[in-house]
Amino acid sequence: MLFKDKLISDRIPKHVAIIMDGNGRWAAQSGNERTFGHEHGVEAVRSVVAGAGEIGVQYLTLYAFSTENWSRPKDEVDALMGLLVQVISDETDELQKSNVRLRVIGDIKSLPQNVQEKLAWSIEKLNSSTGLTLVLALSYSSKWEITEAVKRIAEQVKLGKIEPSEIDNELMDRFMNTSEMPDPELLIRTSGECRISNFLLWQIAYSELYFTPKLWPDYRKEDLFEAIYDFQNRERRFGKTSQQLVS
Ligand code: IPE
Ligand code: IPE
Ligand code: MG
Repeated sequence: MLFKDKLISDRIPKHVAIIMDGNGRWAAQSGNERTFGHEHGVEAVRSVVAGAGEIGVQYLTLYAFSTENWSRPKDEVDALMGLLVQVISDETDELQKSNVRLRVIGDIKSLPQNVQEKLAWSIEKLNSSTGLTLVLALSYSSKWEITEAVKRIAEQVKLGKIEPSEIDNELMDRFMNTSEMPDPELLIRTSGECRISNFLLWQIAYSELYFTPKLWPDYRKEDLFEAIYDFQNRERRFGKTSQQLVS
């Protein structure tokens, strides 16, 4: 039986976040350059976006480029930025047909101008979609996001618009890049690495974590369904006891 058919339809996570990792290692397996792995990662993105839409996930956040990734060799960074522009150009029509909306989180102003323009064009074009929201984390890191939030809150306090005593979880949520979306119930990382790499630290406070050895270019929607199946079989206690949840 396929994992998709085993899913409980009223317990699909609203928000799934994925750390797409392992492109370089995937390319190395066949003696290719790292960039070859990034290019093949696009097939995985296509499949996972389609799969998430099919089962009614509302938000799918993909970690595509971290603040730390700027430290990679210039050739690789340039190739990734070029690939991003190409993929957005090529895929936006298909995303529109699939009723997918696009959002971005991260330090977007640090991206090359042509990438920023292509993103803005695609976001605008997909703005009336009502299905899955695809969120791309670009030039993103959680410590950057939280620091920016603290700066903006401090400015509001200085202006007398926020009282320090008003600062609570909800207010913090509103100052995050993810203010319009629920926290991810499920975080998936491919490639066997068991770390968070500066991704959504605030938002994953109570997320279920799922690590798979599969390298990103090999990942497909059936793998996503398997992760969600695993998620649905976990007991999320939020600090309570099992017994409290039953009664
Ligand atoms: C993930 O794959 C893609 C990005 C971080 C942009 P990697 O490029 O990190 O591949 P590995 O982890 O080196 O195999
Ligand atoms: C995390 O992967 C960032 C993205 C997937 C975009 P990395 O490959 O950059 O993370 P580390 O360096 O192994 O922690
Ligand atoms: Mg990696």
